[in-house]
Amino acid sequence: MSISSVKNLADHQDKIVTLKGWIYNIRSSKAIHFLEVRDGSGLCQCIVAADEVSEGVFEAAGSLKQESSLEITGKVVKDDRSIGGYELHATDLKVIQIAENYPITPKDHGVEFLMENRHLWLRSQRQWAAMQVRNTIQFAIHQFFQKEGFIQMDAPIFTGNAAEGTTTLFETDYFDEKAYLTQSGQLYAEAMAMAHGKVYTFGPTFRAEKSKTRRHLTEFWMIEPEMAFYDLEMNMDLAESMLQFIVQTVLDENESELEILERDTTYLEKAANEKFIRISYSDAVEQLKSKETAELLDQMEVDRKEELKEIQKEEKEIKKEHGSAKKWRKAQIDQRIKEINARVDQIEEDLRNIPVWKESAANFKWGNDFGGSDETILTMQYDTPLMIHRYPAEVKAFYMKRDPENEKLALALDVLAPEGYGEIIGGSEREDSLDVLQARIEEHDLPEDLFNWYLDLRKFGTVPHSGYGLGLERTVAWICGLQHVRETIPFPRMLGRLRP
Ligand code: 4AD
Ligand code: MG
Repeated sequence: MSISSVKNLADHQDKIVTLKGWIYNIRSSKAIHFLEVRDGSGLCQCIVAADEVSEGVFEAAGSLKQESSLEITGKVVKDDRSIGGYELHATDLKVIQIAENYPITPKDHGVEFLMENRHLWLRSQRQWAAMQVRNTIQFAIHQFFQKEGFIQMDAPIFTGNAAEGTTTLFETDYFDEKAYLTQSGQLYAEAMAMAHGKVYTFGPTFRAEKSKTRRHLTEFWMIEPEMAFYDLEMNMDLAESMLQFIVQTVLDENESELEILERDTTYLEKAANEKFIRISYSDAVEQLKSKETAELLDQMEVDRKEELKEIQKEEKEIKKEHGSAKKWRKAQIDQRIKEINARVDQIEEDLRNIPVWKESAANFKWGNDFGGSDETILTMQYDTPLMIHRYPAEVKAFYMKRDPENEKLALALDVLAPEGYGEIIGGSEREDSLDVLQARIEEHDLPEDLFNWYLDLRKFGTVPHSGYGLGLERTVAWICGLQHVRETIPFPRMLGRLRP
């Protein structure tokens, strides 16, 4: 007998193993208990049959409730119909603790309730799967940069510098001075790039985002590569190959997690294999204002209305059937109604949004930054991630280098994830001239004395250099197909959410 994990059951076929874990679900009949046991590595159906275990064990199995902890021993049996492809036929079982009244039941719960119980919600299958994918992404990022010859560097969390504008700074006391929680490790990464050539940060960053959106956290993790002697094109090439590597790794390693998340992987496959679309900001603006975009939105409205009609009809029919249905069919109908309700909410939200989006796209003015809805509309028109370059300098950060061919433009780059997800990467080539950078710092009303060290980088052996920042949570949301970043990090911090 050996201790095993659900993930490794295939290595123990027809052998006796012990699993240690928690009850995810339990169904019982007179002679048999079906225990769904989760052990952190996966979920396994364990069968406790009255004629195969002692009376005491059979009774103990029947006393278990959701999230009770246990050790269970039995034979690993291959069964293709079972989750994970294997079942455990129990021979013995030890109860560690009986959990009473676990608050998160299989029924529908509101988001607020789930967020209040985030410490427990993390055990649910979808949440579990998302965190597994997050881990794969984190490790893949390290693998990618390490194999490309980058070194990881840790930027400070306490900082005196504002890198990304002064409106979203979290301020704190630092003995007799004011300090900020870092918005970005970039400026420090630039210094390290002049010492090591190619570096990347991987750390928490903070922004006092006062708006509630599905894309904004106040504490999020950012990966910021910074490379000496890279121009904008090289920067874009790097961002593309990094994203392709990340997506391919998840496709290879998280098939079952993506299945739990019901993720349609069509666009992920495309992202991993096809060249990304690259267009300039000016072309993107034209696209947004085009007849094509207006027609696309009109069509979307028609499609949504049609779909709404259809699923509402289905709902009516299955509700009629419910009364006289058998127990298993009732459960099926309940499940389907839950799905329909969720979809109806989403369609109704889309139908409210479409006219607003249409108006905002048609009236978009060159020189503005894209809003969330503009990004959604743009990404809907392409199958791969969209790389938009050369933005109006006015809407971008002080450190971005201007386009030598058009002073109004910054050599900036944003990567928008497809399927409406929007910006996951922001970056640029950096201003490398001392005089120009000094002038920009003045223009932006930034305290020059705090930036003296940063200006030194342009005094002593300045070189062309570039970098970008990848938002980890938005990347996880896109790859997992999650609607909101709150499900992409164990304990999200957002406006109005500091606990648990
Ligand atoms: O575009 P941003 O602001 O760029 C920078 O911070 C640069 N200093 C990066 C660099 O060039 N080294 O942020 C980069 C990314 C965004 O594309 C987004 O994915 C993520 O960070 N991000 C957020 N994610 C969650 N919540 C927020 N409030 C975020 N703000 C930015
Ligand atoms: Mg940005």
